Amino acid sequence: MDIDELNAAFGKAFGRRPVGVAVAPGRVNLIGEHTDYNDGFVLPIAVDLATRAAWAPRDDGRLALASLQQPGKDAEIDLCEPIAPGEPAWSNYPKGVAAMLATSGLELPACSILFDSSVPIGSGLSSSASLEVATGLALLAAAGKDMEGYKLARLCQAAEHAFPEVPCGIMDQAIIALGQADHALLLDCRDGQARQVPFNDPDVVLLVADTQVAHELSGGGYAARRDQCHAAAEKLNVAALRDLNTGALEAGRDHLTEVEYRRARHVVGEIARTLAAVDAVEAGDMARFGELMVASHESLRDDYEVSCEELDAIVAAALACDGTFGARMTGGGFGGCAIALVRTARAEAVTEAIQTDYEKRYGRRCPVFATHAAQGACYV
Ligand code: GLA
Repeated sequence: MDIDELNAAFGKAFGRRPVGVAVAPGRVNLIGEHTDYNDGFVLPIAVDLATRAAWAPRDDGRLALASLQQPGKDAEIDLCEPIAPGEPAWSNYPKGVAAMLATSGLELPACSILFDSSVPIGSGLSSSASLEVATGLALLAAAGKDMEGYKLARLCQAAEHAFPEVPCGIMDQAIIALGQADHALLLDCRDGQARQVPFNDPDVVLLVADTQVAHELSGGGYAARRDQCHAAAEKLNVAALRDLNTGALEAGRDHLTEVEYRRARHVVGEIARTLAAVDAVEAGDMARFGELMVASHESLRDDYEVSCEELDAIVAAALACDGTFGARMTGGGFGGCAIALVRTARAEAVTEAIQTDYEKRYGRRCPVFATHAAQGACYV
């Protein structure tokens, strides 16, 4: 949908033209999975898919929310009342952001917001976080304010914890708020320090393959992993698993259950792999980067147990192709997307191979698209 169509849809919903449009992309994580809530490192990029939030002021003291992806499920809030979660479920993401902005001291502007998103819902490409960050930017613009990107990311994370009640880490909101075109973001999730890492080799492309198996972070699997990690850290007397190296983990193994040990082994290994991956990208060593991706996938599959059959099949199909450096599941897991780092000249052949294999196994095609590191959230 181009901007004229978005303006027209806004007119249909709210009877006037929008005053501004905020855009927040989806993301894929190159490596550093399930490390953010363990104070570790992540290395995501923003992708070309995005949520747009078109907004205009109102004069009735209300916040009106509509989404082209949620027809017939509009929501309205009276800004004189405290904001509470409720139906429709999708509106808890923007409502949560509004509530957190109010808590942070912003006088919420009465406005109408229409969302339109190309980030597929439930695909593990951070449709939720892109909705949150787009909301934050739209409300800030409507209030004539701005906010530093990491602070906005933290606020959106708090909103996701409080309203839809998903206990996510900081990665998704941070890359969406801070992403820069042609760069991956190395984020230290302990202190929020961010480094932009050039990721723009024209000979290499990142393929994203969507299993279309619903990825549900509000299901118990994600929270359970988080709890197991925190329990392991506590038993080993460290603030977070980030504070362990392999030696310390092995020395403390007897204090942990078998499951806690394997979860911790993934996290400790994954943090080391993420830092090694940055060295590999900076050295232009895609073969090494690919090896680290494969090790990450195996660890997520075997120790962390968040992969699924469809993700494993895509990774195997990609790795069987000439020109693939590495492949892995990306994001929270339990479905969602896999990524493959491939030679640009081989992108079409690898795409075809993944789709043919997937169709043979599961009787349906899986969408595959090529992406580069896109721009993070901004206004258009
Ligand atoms: C989801 C969460 C992130 C992160 C990833 C796993 O995407 O929202 O905070 O924990 O899973 O790396």
